[in-house]
Amino acid sequence: MRMDETRHRPVLWQEALDGLRLSLGDTVIDATLGGGGHTLLFRSAIGETGKVVSFDMDQVAVDRFLMRAKQDAGMSADLEVGRLSVVHANFSDIGFVMEEIGLTSADAIFADLGYSSDQIEDGARGLSFLKDGPLDMRLDQRSDETAAHIVNVWSEASLAELFSEMGDEEYAKGIARALVRARKERAFTKTLELAEAIERAVPMRIRLKRKTHPATKVFQALRIAVNDEYGNLERFLEQSVGLLAPGGRLGIISFHSGEDRIVKRFFHRMAKGCECPPEFPVCVCHKQPKLKNASREPIIASEREISENPRARSAKLRFAEKC
Ligand SMILES: C[S@@+](CC[C@H](N)C(=O)[O-])C[C@H]1O[C@@H](n2cnc3c(N)ncnc32)[C@H](O)[C@@H]1O
Repeated sequence: MRMDETRHRPVLWQEALDGLRLSLGDTVIDATLGGGGHTLLFRSAIGETGKVVSFDMDQVAVDRFLMRAKQDAGMSADLEVGRLSVVHANFSDIGFVMEEIGLTSADAIFADLGYSSDQIEDGARGLSFLKDGPLDMRLDQRSDETAAHIVNVWSEASLAELFSEMGDEEYAKGIARALVRARKERAFTKTLELAEAIERAVPMRIRLKRKTHPATKVFQALRIAVNDEYGNLERFLEQSVGLLAPGGRLGIISFHSGEDRIVKRFFHRMAKGCECPPEFPVCVCHKQPKLKNASREPIIASEREISENPRARSAKLRFAEKC
């Protein structure tokens, strides 16, 4: 694959466009640039008077997009005048970054969480249990934490808790025990040796029950921990509400239950007003709802989209609106 090409196909793109209800001239923040699919759709929807600011914490994703954009006269012009801005930053710093850019509010904020096809298909990133590579898993090359550090240093109890909490791995304790035993002989350094050790640790009766590779859940848990995905998501959501203009829309695509739970609970909490105990005669907290019209049920991909883009299978899209 050329350095300026992307393999990533945006999921739920029509649903994202419909739900954000973009108008000409809007300012949109795409918190997860990836291959740039959603960013470019938003750019078309808001026209020449609008503005898109896109974040990615992966330098490779930012460079790839900029390389591609510079070969296109329209995109180059937009980058030049700031109608399109690409920021190499973690979306958990969205408040600070927007202040630096001098933007105080946005009409829509969107995030398509997790990793892109470009990242998982590059064995050197260490995200895939099907491709050999270093046990890295960092989406942000500036970060210090790696999967190798977690697998080789964390205690057996901490690993078991991680695999269970962030991977929903029912055989978490057994896998943690097997990994700690194996690492006494030799530290894990590569993805395939880790995937094989996990496969050996999962009893045949459990392996036979599953439709996915036995290492799927452990790799998910490690990636979430390496990239502090839940912490970043929570910090991002809190700041996003403050940045949205009244009536502005927040749209989030998540790919597993832990992420979707954080989004759902956050929307619910922000939609609540007074939190005073029921026995109080008058409200003393003066808390006002900040979000409204939150999706009751997430939007999921059609069978057709899933057949064309299997990645869409686990995608869940939720929206909420600033009061
Ligand atoms: C699913 S992809 C986005 C794909 C994109 N919507 C498209 O259409 O091509 C997720 C992207 O978000 C980035 N990302 C994940 N967590 C991030 C964070 N906390 N801050 C900034 N970027 C993040 C990843 O590096 C990845 O490139």
